[in-house]
Amino acid sequence: MKRKILVTGGTGYIGSHTTVELIEEGFEVIIIDNLCNSKADVVNRIHKITGVKPLLEVFDLCDQKKLDSFIQKHKDISAFIHFAAFKAVGESVNKPLDYYRNNLVSLINLLEVMKCYGIPDLVFSSSCTVYGQPEKLPVTEDAPLQPATSPYGNTKQIGEAIIRDTTISDKNIKAISLRYFNPIGAHASALIGELPEGVPENLVPYLTQTGIGIREELKVFGDDYDTSDGSCIRDYLHVVDLAKAHVIAIKRLIEGNNKTNYEVFNLGTGNGVSVLEAIRSFERVSGIKLKYKIVGRRAGDIEKIWADPSYANKELGWRTLSSLDEAMKTAWDWEKTIRSNKL
Ligand code: UD1
Repeated sequence: MKRKILVTGGTGYIGSHTTVELIEEGFEVIIIDNLCNSKADVVNRIHKITGVKPLLEVFDLCDQKKLDSFIQKHKDISAFIHFAAFKAVGESVNKPLDYYRNNLVSLINLLEVMKCYGIPDLVFSSSCTVYGQPEKLPVTEDAPLQPATSPYGNTKQIGEAIIRDTTISDKNIKAISLRYFNPIGAHASALIGELPEGVPENLVPYLTQTGIGIREELKVFGDDYDTSDGSCIRDYLHVVDLAKAHVIAIKRLIEGNNKTNYEVFNLGTGNGVSVLEAIRSFERVSGIKLKYKIVGRRAGDIEKIWADPSYANKELGWRTLSSLDEAMKTAWDWEKTIRSNKL
């Protein structure tokens, strides 16, 4: 019998790629998504890739009654992977209550049904944002967490604390928080990828939209940082590599190979890449000379951060396989597919 995994936010960017990897590893996936930032059609595209159409239930996880009656129908779920959350840093500053309610109430509701129905395992979508600007680079999991610079970042820190405390109080619950660095790219089929609403906030969608001519030029936020070329440094990893880490984490919990009831892993490549280097990578894979200009720093930006992924490498047997150029190429192929209306 196939193990059933509940993926919240499974039609979103990272959720859809993880759903594909889970199906390909023989899991049955059920998705809950309120479609506030994604489209139901994603399940048809997952079907095209895998030959399996995951069940999609459309409702908001903040609605505890709906979640409860959903779980009543699916008591055989083995584990949850929780992606569903708001994630725009700037928006979270203007709408903090929306962010706290949406990101935290949904998590609490999930943990309550886990306790109530004896569903033991949770993988949580966290972020390197919890480290702020680390003192030591590359950053390891035991680096001190810094006060969050946005309500969004705070929801990840509080979310992790809520999960940790729950696993301490209830020994039947086990969880893994995965701290992502900067996921980019799309599935090789170009059938799923990142679909930002309106003007993208993140670098790579802005880059590809500029390349295709939807945006006039990319603004590089600052060239006066203390880095090799003055632009900020991040650790960009291919979303498919990231998705595979979720499958490994779920298996680790289900098979009981976890070391403690609550574990945390950094997911990154271990390489720092500057904004200007990312632009050059895009130019290499697309053959396009990108229009960009240097502007002032973006408020709240971290100067430089990249992962020390050695704990995930060793404990999970996971590492990134795609290079920056390979990941960038899939982001570009995806952008071209969306704009050619092939989807
Ligand atoms: C941000 C969040 C992170 C969140 C992630 C996903 C912060 C500090 N971090 O990551 O918590 O998980 O988004 O939503 O806010 N850049 C430009 N021009 C652009 C866009 C970006 O130069 O038009 C630069 C930024 O200054 C930054 C780099 O590109 O140096 C990456 O930016 P972005 O893709 O927004 O990701 P983060 O800021 O790292």
